Amino acid sequence: MSSSQRTVFVTGGAGFIGMHVVPMLLERDYKVRIFDNMFRGDRDKVAELVATGNVELIDQDVRYGGAVQNAMKGCESVIHLAAVSINKSVSDPYESVDINMVGNHNVFAAAADQGVRRLVYASSASVYGDPKKLPMHEDDELAPLTPYCIAKRSGEDLLGFYERTKGLSWVGLRFFNVYGPGQKTTAYYTSVINHFVNRLRQGLPPVIDGKGEQSMDFIHVTDIARSVVAALESEKANVPVNIGTGIDTTVADLAKILINAVGVDVEPTFNPRDVLVSRRAADITRAKEVLGWEPTISVEDGMNELVKLTATT
Ligand SMILES: NC(=O)c1ccc[n+]([C@@H]2O[C@H](COP(=O)([O-])OP(=O)(O)OC[C@H]3O[C@@H](n4cnc5c(N)ncnc54)[C@H](O)[C@@H]3O)[C@@H](O)[C@H]2O)c1
Repeated sequence: MSSSQRTVFVTGGAGFIGMHVVPMLLERDYKVRIFDNMFRGDRDKVAELVATGNVELIDQDVRYGGAVQNAMKGCESVIHLAAVSINKSVSDPYESVDINMVGNHNVFAAAADQGVRRLVYASSASVYGDPKKLPMHEDDELAPLTPYCIAKRSGEDLLGFYERTKGLSWVGLRFFNVYGPGQKTTAYYTSVINHFVNRLRQGLPPVIDGKGEQSMDFIHVTDIARSVVAALESEKANVPVNIGTGIDTTVADLAKILINAVGVDVEPTFNPRDVLVSRRAADITRAKEVLGWEPTISVEDGMNELVKLTATT
């Protein structure tokens, strides 16, 4: 296979997850074309990768279909990560729909037209809405609540359309709560980690609303990047796949894990008030069957590493 056939087109490749996926692709001898408008991209890290000679940056926007079509030429596969976040989708639904829904379609239509070998799509656990049972299975009812979540779900449906009409081969990865080095402190689900760590570093206890029963399925970004590469190379395709640890970590558990990681002698404080308790845990049977993927980093190890890393930066 010539090197041009092995170029992966990575939208949003300069973001948090992209910056973990791209080096993994390089290790596996792919070339990478990052397509990112650098709205949240990391220019310094991208420049380091471009210096390897195997990465190029196209500073463009997924909202422009023609730009996507042109830039994708010659790429053998596509990883679509570009999106704006869930909280922005509530404050600005127009922008969210433009980027997350029209942008999805521009990328998928170009990939189908150009006959790429595989498209990997960053979907989200938020397509389920508030789950009725745990663990959450791919065949459970979907009830996306915000424009971001609605776009993620419709993205999966559009991929089905291009599979049926043009034979597009795709995998939609429903990422659960991603954390790890390089994450933005404003990230919606993981801001609780930063908030607790910041207090603990000042010797203050984490403050938990209610009983801290709300839970998340925290999945380390290295495991996420491994799942993206597995989805790019898997024999099986054309399904959504949950990517999480399968473990629901409550906010109270998280506080204890971070107290140990920071190494301070405090107990969490509980702020008695009514909190809407939502819980999350992925059923990851399909990830094992379809991708041969399993998580490798426990929440305890991952949080320990994160605390150590952020202490030195
Ligand atoms: N981080 C999580 O917990 C999580 C969970 C579920 C799903 N996801 C999905 O994974 C993907 C990557 O997430 P992330 O955490 O790396 O986000 P991120 O914000 O760090 O990265 C997104 C990248 O997309 C780029 N981008 C934004 N708008 C663009 C546009 N109009 N045109 C081109 N590029 C644009 C940004 O500059 C950024 O580099 C997203 O699709 C996100 O919805 C993330």
